[in-house]
Amino acid sequence: MNDAMNSGSIPTHRTKAVNDSDSTPQPIRSLEARYYTDPDIFHLEQAGLLARTWQFAGHSSLVNKPGDYFTFTIAGENLFCVRDREGELHGFYNVCQHRAHELLSGEGNTREVVCPYHAWTYTLNGQLRTGPNVNSVPGFDRSRICLTPVRIEVFHGFVFANLDTDAAPMDDWFPGVREELEAYVPHIERLQPLEWIDTPEACNWKVSVENYSECYHCTLNHRAFATGVIKPNTYDIQPQGHCLRHTTASANLDRMSYPIDLDSNEHAGEYSSWFLWPMFSFQVYPGNILNTYHWRAESTDHVTVWRGWYTIDGTDSEVVRRLASQDRATTVEEDIHLVESVQRGLNSRGYKPGPLVLDPACGLRSEHSVHALQQWMRDAIKPVKNHDKHL
Ligand code: FES
Ligand SMILES: [Fe+2]
Repeated sequence: MNDAMNSGSIPTHRTKAVNDSDSTPQPIRSLEARYYTDPDIFHLEQAGLLARTWQFAGHSSLVNKPGDYFTFTIAGENLFCVRDREGELHGFYNVCQHRAHELLSGEGNTREVVCPYHAWTYTLNGQLRTGPNVNSVPGFDRSRICLTPVRIEVFHGFVFANLDTDAAPMDDWFPGVREELEAYVPHIERLQPLEWIDTPEACNWKVSVENYSECYHCTLNHRAFATGVIKPNTYDIQPQGHCLRHTTASANLDRMSYPIDLDSNEHAGEYSSWFLWPMFSFQVYPGNILNTYHWRAESTDHVTVWRGWYTIDGTDSEVVRRLASQDRATTVEEDIHLVESVQRGLNSRGYKPGPLVLDPACGLRSEHSVHALQQWMRDAIKPVKNHDKHL
């Protein structure tokens, strides 16, 4: 099957390809290997997909006070986020409007943004305030010089940025997710990062994201997860806009390794996750424990997966630390071997994309979520049309 047969609107599990010559349904095949191995495709993604989707920038606890800032990178662009004196959060390209020196590095607090090259000075909302000897320039109008803004959104304390100035808001991309997260993690606005664990994987970012987005491999490869966290026969993953929503009943709540007050709120005993296309996921463990995935695509065949763990006000928690290291030692470790083996296989001349297992009933042993993802992956490297610019 060629790409054209698979391009079009966002698929659902009911989508079936039909052979032109007769009406026998043909299985839908996985994405061609070059999507995961060709540096040209990686560069197209950097320039296109990453520049027009919502990307995680950092947690807002880094910028609580006026003057707080942090720098970050999206699609090779150096950017920063800063809180101004009125309490408003801004995103800017980290480049001076004089002769292009970088302005800030790392994170910290500053009264003004002062360029280290010739000391041009900007207010915290990006306006040029002054620069040495600029008044000697006839016609110099400082009011017309300001830093180049970048779109940001705060999503329950998580700051996301989008280089596309016309991007639809996150609530359009990921309908219902904000409300659902609030219900599953009632204290989400009070959370701060307690621990980050980063895991390098020798594979294309899409191999890792696909692996995260299906549970067809779970019972065989994730014993702890499949027997201790979820009830496999209830697991499902469905598109919700450009979110892939994982739902399941929880297993063995009476035998969890940490205490859970099941009466504290409606979802206290549940596991769920919300993958936000293309590279971020919110995941909730029973006990309303939030953790996140952030994939950083380093090159065609390397990605770093950052796992974030949070507590109220960032206070230390033995339970959360233990969960984080248990998760790293089991599910994450098990997945590394899977995705790295797949990447080696994608480089094999002996591989032809195989049929996806699309069960009309969906569920754990179906790859309908991979089908949706692969459609977004194809769309990501197509030229941008006006009507689907945000895809
Ligand atoms: S480049 Fe920033 S002041 Fe000259
Ligand atoms: Fe896995």
